[in-house]
Amino acid sequence: MSTNRTATLTIDGKTHEFPIMVGTHGNDVIDIRTLGAKTGLFTYDSGYLSTASCQSTVTFIDGDKGELLYRGYPIEQLAEHCNFLEVAYLLKNAELPNKEQKTAFESTIKNHTMVHDQLTRFYNGFRRDAHPMAVVVGVVGGLSAFYHDALDMSDPEQRSITINRIIAKIPTIVAMAYKYNNGQPFMYPRNDLDYTANFMHMMFGTPCEEYKPNPVLTHALDTIFTLHADHEQNASTSTVRLAGSSGANPYACVSAGIACLWGPAHGGANEACLQMLEEIGDVSRVGEYIKRAKDKSDNFKLMGFGHRVYKNFDPRAKLMGKVCTDVLAELGLENDRLFKLAKELEKIALEDEYFIEKKLYPNVDFYSGIVQKALGIPTTMFTCIFALARSIGWMTQWEEMITDPEYKIGRPRQLYVGAARRDVKPLGQR
Ligand code: ACO
Repeated sequence: MSTNRTATLTIDGKTHEFPIMVGTHGNDVIDIRTLGAKTGLFTYDSGYLSTASCQSTVTFIDGDKGELLYRGYPIEQLAEHCNFLEVAYLLKNAELPNKEQKTAFESTIKNHTMVHDQLTRFYNGFRRDAHPMAVVVGVVGGLSAFYHDALDMSDPEQRSITINRIIAKIPTIVAMAYKYNNGQPFMYPRNDLDYTANFMHMMFGTPCEEYKPNPVLTHALDTIFTLHADHEQNASTSTVRLAGSSGANPYACVSAGIACLWGPAHGGANEACLQMLEEIGDVSRVGEYIKRAKDKSDNFKLMGFGHRVYKNFDPRAKLMGKVCTDVLAELGLENDRLFKLAKELEKIALEDEYFIEKKLYPNVDFYSGIVQKALGIPTTMFTCIFALARSIGWMTQWEEMITDPEYKIGRPRQLYVGAARRDVKPLGQR
C-alpha cells in the first residue's frame, strides 16, 4: 500500500522522491523501482539485508518480538489448535478450514498420495548410500516429467491440483528415499491413517508387520511439520520464487527449493547440529566449543544458533523445546546424553557475552534434530523432513508470485568489479 510519505535521495545535488509503502505489520519499504530509470544508479544489497523482494500476504515474522504469523495467526496457537493439514489448508487458501472443508481437503490429499509406478524406478538409478536429499531433489524434479503437459498456470484449478499433488506426494517420495537407503521395500500409503501417521507408516512400517502409530510421537512430528511449513522470504523460498518467475514447471521449482534448503546455513542445520552435539560428546567439552565459535580464525559456528531475522528468540525453538521434552518423556529418554548436552550448551551460550551481543539464540533446528533422532529418524533424513513440511510454503509463495499482477521475471543487477574492457590478443602474443 502506498502512502503520502516519500523518501528523498540527493545525488550530486539533485533530489529524487521515492514513495514509501506500508504493510500490515513490519518495516515500511522505499519503493525504488524507478531508481535506475531516474538516476542511472542501482542499489547494492548483497544478501538482501535491506531488500523486500515482493509483497506477500502469507507469513509475517517480527524478529525483535520473536513472533511468527501464518496468514495472521500466531504459530503458538496454530501448533496448539491445528494439525499440519489444517495449517497447509490455511497457507494455501488464506483461511482456516471449517469442519467440512477440513474433511474434504484431507480426503483430496489422501487421494493423491500414491506416486506413478514408473516414478518408483527412478530410485534404482541412485546409489544406495546416496544422501537422501540428493535423491529427493532428483525425484521431486522428476515429477515435472509426469505432469508437464497438465500445467496451465493461468488456470486456478490446475494450480490447485498441482499444489495438492505436491503436498500429498512429498511424504511418499521422502519415505521412499529412506526405504531405498536402508534396503527395505517401499510401503504404499495407507488411507486409513492421517497425514503424519501415514508418513510414519511409510517410514517405519514393513510388509511383515503393521505399523501402529503412537499418538504422542505422531503429534510431535506433526508439530515439526507445522513449525517448518513457511517462513516468509528465506533462501529456499526466494529460490522457488526466482525459479518460478521464469514460468518454470512448479515441480522443478520445488526441487530447486529443496537443493537450496540442503545447505548447512539453512535447512541442513538440524543435521549439522546433531553432528556437532555428537562431536562435542560430553558436557565437559562445551566450553571448548563455545570458545571455538567465538574465534574469528576458526570457521566453526554453533549449529542451531543464530538467525537472519530473529534477534530475540525464535518462537519455533521454544515450541520445539517443549515437543522435545514430551517425546523424550514418552520414550523414557529424559536422561538422553545429547539432550542434556544441548541444554547445557544452550545455557552457557545464552549467558555468554559474545552470543548476547550478537543476539544469537537457538533457532528451530537446535532441538528438532534431537526430537527426530528420538523418533528413530536417521540424521541424513532430517533435512528431507524439513523439505516435506516446507513444500506447502514454497507452493503457496509460488502461487502468490505467479498470480501477482506485478509479477515479473526476477533479474537482479550487479556492481561489476572485474577486468576493464580489453582486447583479445592472438595466441602467440599472449
Ligand atoms: N555461532 C557463532 N557465531 C555466529 C553464529 C553461530 N551460530 N551465527 C552467527 N555468528 C556470528 C557471525 O560470525 C557474525 O560475527 P561478526 O559480526 O563478528 O562477523 C555475526 O554473528 C553475524 O552473523 P552473520 O552470519 O553475519 O548473520 P546472518 O544473518 O548472515 O546469518 C545464519 C544467519 C546463517 C543463520 C548464521 O547465524 C548461522 O550460520 N548459524 C548457524 C547455522 C544455523 O543454525 N542455520 C539455521 C538457520 S534457521 C533455518 O534455516 C531453519
